[in-house]
Amino acid sequence: SLINILIDNIKLRAEEGITILDAAKKAGIKIPTLCVMPELRFTPGSCRICVVEVVDMPALVASCAYPVREGLEIHTNNKRVARARKMTLEFLLANHPLDCMTCEKSGSCILEDLAYDLGIKKSKFEQNKKELTVDNNNPFIVRELDKCVLCGRCVEICNEIQQSNIIDFGYRGTKTEIIVEGGTDLRNSNCVFCGQCVAVCPVGALIDKEAQGKGRTWEFKKVRTTCNYCGCGCNFDFNIKEGQVVKVTSNSESVVNGINLC
Ligand code: SF4
Ligand code: SF4
Ligand code: SF4
Ligand code: FES
Repeated sequence: SLINILIDNIKLRAEEGITILDAAKKAGIKIPTLCVMPELRFTPGSCRICVVEVVDMPALVASCAYPVREGLEIHTNNKRVARARKMTLEFLLANHPLDCMTCEKSGSCILEDLAYDLGIKKSKFEQNKKELTVDNNNPFIVRELDKCVLCGRCVEICNEIQQSNIIDFGYRGTKTEIIVEGGTDLRNSNCVFCGQCVAVCPVGALIDKEAQGKGRTWEFKKVRTTCNYCGCGCNFDFNIKEGQVVKVTSNSESVVNGINLC
């Protein structure tokens, strides 16, 4: 049923139970996000970038996970919200190698975009950056987990969609990282190298090895194609530079496979 809410002083009728994030979208209001993956209905509420203020609620809420109800009054970008969002981002950047100049993900990195949009050049928090070993001894995927923001997208797609159960969260607190089954690396695991985790990683923590060093995001021309391997009719994008196909990526607008690869 439809309910009435007030969002940034805009009166809106919205479907009861949809998230504040989706309701805001209907009102043309963009709330920044990092961990959520609407294509897979994945809303872990873990990054806290999307926080908003709900009047009469003591704490800010994650808009990607909080459902709307009758009479809700929401502020998506007042001073309190903006300050909280900036602080969250600064905490993330405090433990992040600011390596955008040579990072493969630059140009399509959500963290980079957030820092740009919020005008953050560096974190004011001092912290020893994590120094994790790069997992690079397989032919397909580079895992540079110093850049991981622990959004959980890769874990979700590997375990819930691909059903491979290769990766998961390991350790606790500030030591938390994404680990491979059996505490090994991808090469020595049962990973099928489907590439699904790479496709959903919002930052440069998981990289397509074959395409490494072969071009920046903005240099590629994307050409939609239909896979002819089987009869499903999945759509993908060829990423072409100087007449050469450098890599193949999924396209969220594909009716058959969405953001999924094979
Ligand atoms: S992951 Fe994103 S923010 Fe981090 S170095 Fe790469 S482009 Fe920059
Ligand atoms: S490549 Fe596929 S199977 Fe391997 S870790 Fe990533 S999602 Fe899991
Ligand atoms: S490796 Fe990428 S997708 Fe996985 S948790 Fe880290 S940032 Fe998220
Ligand atoms: S996008 Fe909502 S908590 Fe991450």
